[in-house]
Formats: sequence, C-alpha cells, structure tokens
Amino acid sequence: MKPTRTQVGIVGAGPAGLVLSHLLHREGIESIVLESKSRQYCEERIRAGVLEWGTVDLLNQMGVGERMKREGLVHYGIELRFAGRGHRIDFKDLTGRAITVYGQHEVIKDLIQARLADQGQIVFEAEDVRVQAFDTPRPKIQYALSGNVQEIHCDFIAGCDGFHGVCRPSIPSGILTAYERIYPFGWLGILAEAAPSSEELIYAYHERGFALHSMRSPKITRLYLQCGPEEDLANWPDAKIWSELQRRLAGGKEWKLNEGPILQKGVTGMRSFVVEPMQYGRMFLAGDAAHIVPPTGAKGLNLAVADVRVLARGLKEFYFSGSTALLDRYSEICLRRVWRVQRFSWWMTSLLHRHEGNPFDDRRQLAELDYLTSSRAASQSLAENYVGLPLD
Ligand code: FAD
Ligand code: PHB
Repeated sequence: MKPTRTQVGIVGAGPAGLVLSHLLHREGIESIVLESKSRQYCEERIRAGVLEWGTVDLLNQMGVGERMKREGLVHYGIELRFAGRGHRIDFKDLTGRAITVYGQHEVIKDLIQARLADQGQIVFEAEDVRVQAFDTPRPKIQYALSGNVQEIHCDFIAGCDGFHGVCRPSIPSGILTAYERIYPFGWLGILAEAAPSSEELIYAYHERGFALHSMRSPKITRLYLQCGPEEDLANWPDAKIWSELQRRLAGGKEWKLNEGPILQKGVTGMRSFVVEPMQYGRMFLAGDAAHIVPPTGAKGLNLAVADVRVLARGLKEFYFSGSTALLDRYSEICLRRVWRVQRFSWWMTSLLHRHEGNPFDDRRQLAELDYLTSSRAASQSLAENYVGLPLD
C-alpha cells in the first residue's frame, strides 16, 4: 500500500470539515476529507437551520452562497411567546443585522458540490479511521475503504469529526480538560409538510414545557418540544405531538398552528461541553469535536464555522511564511468565542425550559421574559448574541 500525501488531513465532512477544506483550497492548500458516512447520508441528515450573518457572509465570500441567496429565508426578528402572548425581538432595529434560515443539509450539499467541482477529495464511507503521530511533524491517518487499509501522510490533522468522533479520544489522557453540563431534558423534533404558521421563529415558554416553531421552506415546518432526555418516540404518536405543540405554542385566537404529514421525527439530548485546549501537537479540534452547545441559541453550526475560519488563517500563515504564531494561538482565539456562545446558549436554555420541581423558577423565568421584552437594553443583548457576535 502506497501512502497518499496531502498537506491537511481532515476527519469529518460536516460543516467544519467541508468549510475548512474549501477555505484551504482557495488559498492553494491541499486537503483530503475522510468521512465515515455515505454522501447521501450527509446530505440528508436534518440538523441545524439558523445561520448567523457572519456565517452567511463567509459562505458567500467562499463562493458557495448562490442557492442560499435564492432559497434561504432572511429573518429580521424572532418571537418570544409566553403567558399566551407573543413579543417580537426586532433584530434589524436592535442590531442592523439578520439571520438566514437555511437547512444545515442544504449547506452540506452546496459545500460537497463545490469541493467536488474543484477536484477536492472527499472519501466517503471511510472505515476505522485512526489518527497517528500527531505529536510529531509527520502525522498520519489510517483508514479502510471496502476493507482495504489506506494511509494518508500529512503536515496537520483537523479533527472535525463531531462529538462522537475519533480525534478527541485519540489525544493522550491528561492533556485535555473537559467542562460539561448535561440538562435533564431533551428536544423532540419533527419536520412536517405544512406551511409555517408564522413568518419568523417562535420560542415559547409554557407551563407544559418549551416549544419552538421553525421552518425550512414556505412548505415545510420544523417544530420542537421539550421532552425527557431519553424520551421514547414510541410514546409519541403523531396526534399527541400535534396536540402538545398546539397547547404550548397557543398564541391568541387569531393564531393557528398549521398541521400536516410528519416527514421525520427524532429526540436530541441537550448538553454543554468544552475541551481545553482545542489542539495537541499537529492536531486541531474544530466544531462539535471540541464543544457542544444546547440547540436553544441555534449556535452549533455557526461555532463550527467560526473555529475553522481561525484554523484556515493559521494554516495559511504557516504555509506562506513558515510561522506558527497564529496556529499556536488557535485554542486561545477560538475558546474566547466558544465560552461567550456557551454562556448565551446556556442562558437561552435555562430561560425557556421548564425546570421541574421549583415553582420559584417559573415565576423568575416569567419575570425575566417580561424584562427581556420590555427593556431595550435586555432585548439588544439577546439580539446581538442571536444574530452572531462579530467574527475574530
Ligand atoms: P458534525 O456536523 O457532527 O460533522 C462531523 C462529521 O464527522 C459527520 O459527518 C460524521 O459522520 C463524521 N464522523 C464522525 N466520526 C467519524 C470518524 N470516526 N471518521 C470519519 N468521519 C467521522 N446548530 C446551529 O448553528 N443552528 C441550529 O439551528 C442548530 N440546530 C440543531 C438542531 C438539532 C436537532 C441538532 C442535533 C443540532 C443542531 N445544531 C444547530 C448543531 C449543529 O448541527 C452542529 O453543531 C454541527 O453539525 C457541528 O458541525 P461539525 O462539522 O462540527 O460536526
Ligand atoms: C431549527 O430550525 O432547526 C432550529 C432553529 C432554532 C434553534 C434550533 C433549531 O434554536
């Protein structure tokens, strides 16, 4: 077996891995992306939906924003709904910015297409990926393809393989410190063939639990319900999901939640997680491989993109000048944003979910929502974090 040589070996073809590969390509730096799943699986996996303005800008600058510009839904606000009433947070007025609702799987399709059109190498269905010798100047990645073992020799490894990937656990013990919080609830999410019932996202706080109304297109609604952390979907026939959503999202006589066939349903657990540092030797962790946020702030994908933007700049500096100054500061630069986003995601989660057992919390949360929607300063703080803090 003759090893293949590349400059950067990237593990994972999620948003982090694909954005990194494309950014590097635009700087003339070669990479190979190894992905354990099939192309179809990656392109159909339903996950995030909200893009910060900085993510949108970057995708446009990278030349992969054409379809997003045509099909993405630009939103200038969100609604917070509680005590049966809606309150709009006006992003345009408060920040001058907007977010774009465009499915993560659509971003993935656009990136895969752009990489392949530029002869980029993505190896799908790579089995048994192993990262090796990243504490030396000659890292290696071993994997199998249809049972045949292959090897890549590279200068750097980017661990973009998500929370359950192999890169983070391959770092020797004692190097990383993990910070974690696991929440005692999860989200039951559905994708429904129904026109969205409101032009903007609705985050609802209700005595029966949190609910979220989002969308993917003018014909497809995405909805979530707070549920148990390991809720069994068997306990949730479609009719029960709709009746629960109707109750939690209720917002006055004129408002009605449109229903339709459920195309997909799933349960997601909620956690906050960070490892420090995000690098060891010549391996750099990016995106969910290094940190997880609960989805309430809609930040995971955006944070993954922010990481690899920093990494691509560091690698560019290395290949153009030989300096590792920026690469050496990769963790420090990324972690500053990571912790600010962790704080925001934790805060949105605590604010909007029902915490069992203490009625004090319910009154406190209602008071906070009341303050948030009646104080410009408080609304502005939410808005500037939601649309996305400026990129470093
Ligand atoms: P991933 O997307 O997880 O990509 C990692 C890739 O690595 C995967 O393709 C995986 O198959 C591959 N891989 C794993 N192990 C290996 C291996 N051993 N070898 C090779 N390949 C491997 N974020 C937002 O910003 N906005 C939202 O609105 C939002 N909503 C969400 C809703 C839900 C229900 C969920 C679950 C998540 C949501 N997120 C949201 C989070 C967002 O989806 C993730 O943060 C994002 O996918 C992280 O990108 P990534 O590239 O780091 O990791
Ligand atoms: C989504 O549309 O999937 C979505 C929107 C907002 C969130 C989380 C998920 O906070």
